[in-house]
Amino acid sequence: MQVEKTRSFRGRFSLPGDKSLSHRLALFGAVAEGTTRITNFGSAADNASTLSCLQALGVEVRRENGIVLVEGRGFSGLRAPGADLDCGNSGSTLRMLAGILAGRPFRSVLTGDASLRRRPVERVAVPLRQMGARAQSLDGKPPLTLEGGGLRGIHYDQKVASAQVKTAVLLAGLQAEGRTTVTEPELSRDHTERLLPVFGVDVEREGLSVSVQGGARLKCASLNVPGDASSAAFLLVAALIRPDSEVTVENVLLNPTRTAFLDVLREMGAEIEVTVERAEPEPVGTVTARSSLLRGVTVRPEVVPALIDEVPILAVAAAHALGTFTLTGAGELRVKESDRLAALAEGLSRMGASIEELPDGLVVRGGRPLHGASVRAQDDHRIAMSLAVAALAAEGPTVIEGAEAAAVSFPEFWDLLARGSRRA
Ligand code: S3P
Repeated sequence: MQVEKTRSFRGRFSLPGDKSLSHRLALFGAVAEGTTRITNFGSAADNASTLSCLQALGVEVRRENGIVLVEGRGFSGLRAPGADLDCGNSGSTLRMLAGILAGRPFRSVLTGDASLRRRPVERVAVPLRQMGARAQSLDGKPPLTLEGGGLRGIHYDQKVASAQVKTAVLLAGLQAEGRTTVTEPELSRDHTERLLPVFGVDVEREGLSVSVQGGARLKCASLNVPGDASSAAFLLVAALIRPDSEVTVENVLLNPTRTAFLDVLREMGAEIEVTVERAEPEPVGTVTARSSLLRGVTVRPEVVPALIDEVPILAVAAAHALGTFTLTGAGELRVKESDRLAALAEGLSRMGASIEELPDGLVVRGGRPLHGASVRAQDDHRIAMSLAVAALAAEGPTVIEGAEAAAVSFPEFWDLLARGSRRA
């Protein structure tokens, strides 16, 4: 894919459903009783991986007029899969589904593409074993083989904040005997805590701890998924870094555990307006961003879990800011779809940015003009899209190898990038 500089970037956008929410609604619907109706279900390839794994477990999934219908028959309605469950590129599918399968009395094998098979799964296997499931990984990575049932509740103290692991333990906890509590070092995205009550499950939250009772039964639900907050970030930053630009994203998810990137951008001097239109079960509203003169800031490590997926696009904003941008406490980025710290350092420095890798973060010395270059997405959707946005402000064309990875979370990205660009 070749991306050219744009004079400005403008538009009003309404995006397909948030990826994190769509995964959870499909998973919860699959173990609920009755038909769960999901409107504006995510278009991400990762979300399709969740649906196909559920179908392989005997769950009926249909689409009617664009609405996804999931026919749940309770946890006990799941059937042993006839083959390995292919989670594609989706770490969320693999880790969260592991929590459901840990409670099922059959053997299942969770695996995925080459990138997913390089990612750690012991973080989810360890607590599931403590609860009584049999879980076997291959040197700490997928395939993950589970044989479950007979679980007991635990209190699990997570060393690293992870919403996927938190969700997996809670989903296993719903099937366990007694109470299960997860405590995190910092708050990770809290969609599971907000959405389980919509399916009729009591969730107790106290500080950084979340608890559920075992033996739960989920009721089916009907929900409309707001637009993907992480996808919105790419379009908003495109407007911030080009002159005479304005982007509005409507009906977008505004959960505070997902929008810390907006706070950081504001601190960098970005002109951003946010209107929250609905609060329950998830905050939803409209965001507008306009061309802004940005400056570098230091991001506090404790807010990193709430912007973990936006670090790549924040690094692009930082390359266009005056002064130094420093971010630490993001060692987790080394085990995402790629080593995102290394991938960003490679891509942005090829384009002329001054960017230094730290063991758990980045230092970007902004304000250097970028130039087009040949860069690599490294099998990572967010790296592909971040480099594309950087290219909108670079002199000369940028060629992104592996750009098709964007479809993992945002298949519409290239069309919307073209739609917003004003070259004349
Ligand atoms: C996600 C949690 C985060 C995030 C991922 C989606 C989720 O991962 O990076 O893209 O939907 O729960 P971790 O749980 O590994 O922090």
